[in-house]
Amino acid sequence: MPKPEKHVFVCVQNRPPEHPRPSCGQKNCAEIAEEFYSHLQQSQLFDKIQVTTTGCLGPCSEGPTVLVYPEGIMYGGIKKDDVATIFNEHLRNNKPVEQLMVSKTFWS
Ligand code: FES
Repeated sequence: MPKPEKHVFVCVQNRPPEHPRPSCGQKNCAEIAEEFYSHLQQSQLFDKIQVTTTGCLGPCSEGPTVLVYPEGIMYGGIKKDDVATIFNEHLRNNKPVEQLMVSKTFWS
């Protein structure tokens, strides 16, 4: 298996409504994951891009969250239409999408 140039982690953590922390599962994260898989399928870039669903990435209140390596860039509040932007600009053209990133203080 070739090492992917980009590895995308999409949070699909779900919590019950009464839980004190929100979750990406309450904000249509499954739709975000499906959209990434759809773009990957359409592009056939399986040797360059890998998409993995995962548990909580940390900034639950900013979900749905998406983390892209090797840069370690966290996107938050992602909507279905944002996936095409991330896929085409960041994953295919190596230009991270600043306006969709979580606040800069997240990693401090
Ligand atoms: S539940 Fe998605 S970041 Fe915590």
